[in-house]
Amino acid sequence: MANLDDALREAAATIISALTRYIPAPEGAQKRLFEAMRYSTFAGGKRLRPFLVLAGADLFGVPRAHALPTAAAIEMVHTYSLVHDDLPAMDNDDLRRRQPTCHKKFDEATAILTGDSLLTLAFEAIAASSGHPDPAVRADLVHALAIAAGAEGMAGGQMIDLEAEKKNGALDLDAIIHLQRLKTGALIRFSCEAGAIMARARDEHRRALRIYAACIGLAFQITDDLLDHESTAEQLGKAVGKDAKAGKATFVQLLGADEARRRAHAIIDEAEAVLSPFGSKSALLRDVARYIVERKN
Ligand code: IPE
Ligand code: IPE
Ligand code: MG
Ligand code: MG
Ligand code: MG
Repeated sequence: MANLDDALREAAATIISALTRYIPAPEGAQKRLFEAMRYSTFAGGKRLRPFLVLAGADLFGVPRAHALPTAAAIEMVHTYSLVHDDLPAMDNDDLRRRQPTCHKKFDEATAILTGDSLLTLAFEAIAASSGHPDPAVRADLVHALAIAAGAEGMAGGQMIDLEAEKKNGALDLDAIIHLQRLKTGALIRFSCEAGAIMARARDEHRRALRIYAACIGLAFQITDDLLDHESTAEQLGKAVGKDAKAGKATFVQLLGADEARRRAHAIIDEAEAVLSPFGSKSALLRDVARYIVERKN
């Protein structure tokens, strides 16, 4: 997978330099807020979602410059979701991306405002005329990202996740799949579909990408839950063993680690198969699907 490693590294570097341009330098009256936004955004992270945006755009020959604002935007929304996910009112975590969480380094109010500001900056980046040159495409991207991030997407999934804790994880498999599709799947689905939106791709291609996205989104969260169960804080850069302690509803909790892993791999086989209409152009998407279940952090 040398190619995939190179492509992930190259996309991460591209995204970091775009994010550096978008997030204001820490100076002026809001210095503390800009500092916290940069602290959480540049702490590391796999940059998987922007990678998917760029790979999806490449599939249809969308120029990099047209896709980059959306790639940066999805990483901002993802980082916001992590900053809020770690707050005491939610998962109450102290470590994220190998360093103290935003509210630990700064304080809770700063972490809330950091999340708010990253979320809104994402929409600013996509909607700006410096984004995709076609205003109708920009509007479609804003619309799709709004759905993915909101109550019918990530935020809604986080609500279900927290409610399930109160029932000590007592959800059936369909309910867990629904929770994970919203909580993690929605932003990943947006990432996979963004290139198709930019290229005004045919329905058949969009459908294939949607199924691919649903599969890798689910497999991604199952793997996250497996890593929480089996890995170490050193390897992950975040606390482990928290899902069981908090009573989270996960595949691992319901089915056990071996069966959860088996299902994640089967879902990835499905993701690979659905890419066939794209032929060899989709090699990186195939490789990244495999990486999602084989990753160690
Ligand atoms: C962690 O996401 C949160 C989930 C949605 C499971 P990532 O594993 O992509 O986190 P980073 O961006 O690499 O830190
Ligand atoms: C979080 O899922 C998903 C988000 C929407 C941020 P987790 O709570 O399992 O993510 P980690 O394990 O803290 O990264
Ligand atoms: Mg959580
Ligand atoms: Mg968490
Ligand atoms: Mg987790």
